[in-house]
Amino acid sequence: MLQIRVNDIEIAYQIRGEGKPLLLVHGFPLDHSMWRFQFEVLATQYRVIAPDLRGFGQTTRGSADVSMQQFANDLNGLLDALSIREPITYCGLSMGGYIGWEFWKSYPDRICRLIQCDTRSIGDTELMARGRRQMAARITKQGPNGSALAADGMLPKLFSNYSAQTIPERVAQLRNVIAGSDPHMIAETQHALASRHDATPWLPNINIPTLLICGEHDAISPADEMRAIADAIPDGTFHIIENVGHMAPLEHPQAVNKVIRQFLHQTDSSC
Ligand code: MLT
Repeated sequence: MLQIRVNDIEIAYQIRGEGKPLLLVHGFPLDHSMWRFQFEVLATQYRVIAPDLRGFGQTTRGSADVSMQQFANDLNGLLDALSIREPITYCGLSMGGYIGWEFWKSYPDRICRLIQCDTRSIGDTELMARGRRQMAARITKQGPNGSALAADGMLPKLFSNYSAQTIPERVAQLRNVIAGSDPHMIAETQHALASRHDATPWLPNINIPTLLICGEHDAISPADEMRAIADAIPDGTFHIIENVGHMAPLEHPQAVNKVIRQFLHQTDSSC
């Protein structure tokens, strides 16, 4: 991993390849390694950047309040620090997708294509927000074991039953990533997720090619909801990945990479 100073933090990131820049933004509470099956493949044609977000993986926490907007600001700062001035293709999963909407809203000139995997546009309902706050309180109460509690709570919702049976080692690896992350950061980010924007009203104004990818059995970002997001975006397309859940890029990388490469090829003139 490389490290670079951005705002009040040191961002850890991987970068590889030549060509148009492609930013891979991980979900919650994960790190860049969830993209490992995309990183190598896409780097044969693109300049791929996979950072750890503020407070996750090897990136420092800094002192700014955590919010989707702050994560987007950090990514903007990362591009500045890497002297990447041309518009990027932004690819996020779940929370990385929530940040993607904010990134588009705040830095529209910086982005020429959007790939949103297993994500939602609506904000939390009051019930969901309350659930997150309760979870944050339980994690904080557990102290250093809070991350293991979060891992056990989240894991059943991340993978399909089929993936749990066929790729148990990937499930175990992801559990280690969650259990190894900072419990304070998990709790703080739950609060930030609970108060994130509803991006649904923005969708008709997203005037760049946008690919929506969803696992057939995604229990967090349902396929019907993602199809509706694609319908609301003027140049939106939707693809379902069969047999997988919320972690589609990790569960069935070959299928996801094929869809991403097709989309990049078809929309290359937009960037
Ligand atoms: C994620 O995968 O980033 C989270 O499941 C997002 C969420 O909790 O809404």
